[in-house]
Amino acid sequence: MTNWTPDLQGRVGPRYRVIADAIADDVAGGRLTAGTRLPTHRDLAYTLGVTVGTITRAYAEAEKRGLIGGEVGRGTFVLGQVQPPVVDSPDWPVSVSPSAVILTTILPEQNDAIQALQTTLAELAASNDLASLVTYAPHAGFPAHRAAGAEWMQRWHRLNATPDEVVLATGAQNATAVALGALLRPGDVILTERLTNYGLKVLCPTLSAHLEGIAIDDDGIVPEAFDAACRRTGARLLYTVPTLHNPTATVMSVERRKEIIAIARRFDVTIVEDDVFGFLVDDAVPFRALAPDIAIYLTSLSKSVIAGLRIGYIVASASLVSRLEATARALHYSVPALPAEVASRWIGNGMADRMAERQRAEARHRQRMARSILPVEYVRGNANAQHLWLELPEPWRNEEFVAEARRRSVQVLPAETFIVGRGSAPHAVRLSLCTPEHRTDLERGLQTLAQVLAGPLTARLSIV
Ligand SMILES: Cc1ncc(COP(=O)(O)O)c(C=O)c1O
Repeated sequence: MTNWTPDLQGRVGPRYRVIADAIADDVAGGRLTAGTRLPTHRDLAYTLGVTVGTITRAYAEAEKRGLIGGEVGRGTFVLGQVQPPVVDSPDWPVSVSPSAVILTTILPEQNDAIQALQTTLAELAASNDLASLVTYAPHAGFPAHRAAGAEWMQRWHRLNATPDEVVLATGAQNATAVALGALLRPGDVILTERLTNYGLKVLCPTLSAHLEGIAIDDDGIVPEAFDAACRRTGARLLYTVPTLHNPTATVMSVERRKEIIAIARRFDVTIVEDDVFGFLVDDAVPFRALAPDIAIYLTSLSKSVIAGLRIGYIVASASLVSRLEATARALHYSVPALPAEVASRWIGNGMADRMAERQRAEARHRQRMARSILPVEYVRGNANAQHLWLELPEPWRNEEFVAEARRRSVQVLPAETFIVGRGSAPHAVRLSLCTPEHRTDLERGLQTLAQVLAGPLTARLSIV
């Protein structure tokens, strides 16, 4: 037991509160450290010359503030300052030990890219094209780059677009900002899946747009919930990731898409479809292919070819393109022509196809690995995805599972990362399977997660 005595000098107010304040100050100042046993009520009352009842009230007050905790027969202990839980960013892990397996950001490894980049940059250096690639590009991009984008989307995303319907963007995140920025009016609500792409969540405050989540099932947005949300909010915009939804990796069927389109038409809602993962599946039909009059489409090369080129494409009807151009001008003026040229050359010479093909094969291989290591009854999502949705059995809560995995050097993201607003998150985590460079690292990470799932929930609470 400590011989700590609170310093009450200069403190005014009821005695019990003054003592609780002194405990708080000493915890904050490090004079009382976690685990320290405090004097008994009787001893401290004697030392301070107050009644035992005052100490009882003071300790109760300190306990209410989360500073101390007691156990009958064992005494009263300092809990220490409450540390906020360490949460990994969906973009970059908070802290990385060299052996950690990072399954957070969906960032495919692309080893071919370096060699390809060296070759293409050398070709460009030897050509007379460089001057035209370091000037301002048109807001929608150079015609040849828009044409390459149209070719790419037709080849890999099952979407036919003419080059003048294509607007370049610096990746899908920027494409989303441009598309929504062009369509939004002050005070607008944006509807989306109730679990949604984290990038949208961080974008909406920047656009001063309010985000509303809609219920989802294994086929994506639930039509009745969409209908009800349109009625309730008067929203004019729906942002959706129907193909390999982020985070749950489901693919919306054509039938469901048609139902969503019918509702969108009824309420005059424009659908903004984010299809960054569309190249990974063979048969999903974009909303824009089904309803070009009410759907804007966007994608990027980040998951299929290489993320750092920052090349994305928006497809919209010609009548909307000038609005997109105006928004692009406001946000980034134009996409740098140099990476757009590199991407276009790769689309033209087959290099981008080979990279996308490799990503598809790698995603499928890693899904098979995951399904052979993790208990399949908890694995959710399409087996072509670069990510996987892992439901957590009882008694796991998301933050405990994430913390336990992190303690064992595996980093995953809890459902809370993706939940819209303050809705309650399901018991699940998202694993990016494509992030570790080597399959052996992924295997090690998945085995650890399987062990965590199989093992008992170890109470690691500092509270006594
Ligand atoms: C659904 C979705 N949209 C957009 C992005 C961001 O893509 P980009 O790197 O092209 O900006 C991601 C990244 O994971 C994503 O999952």
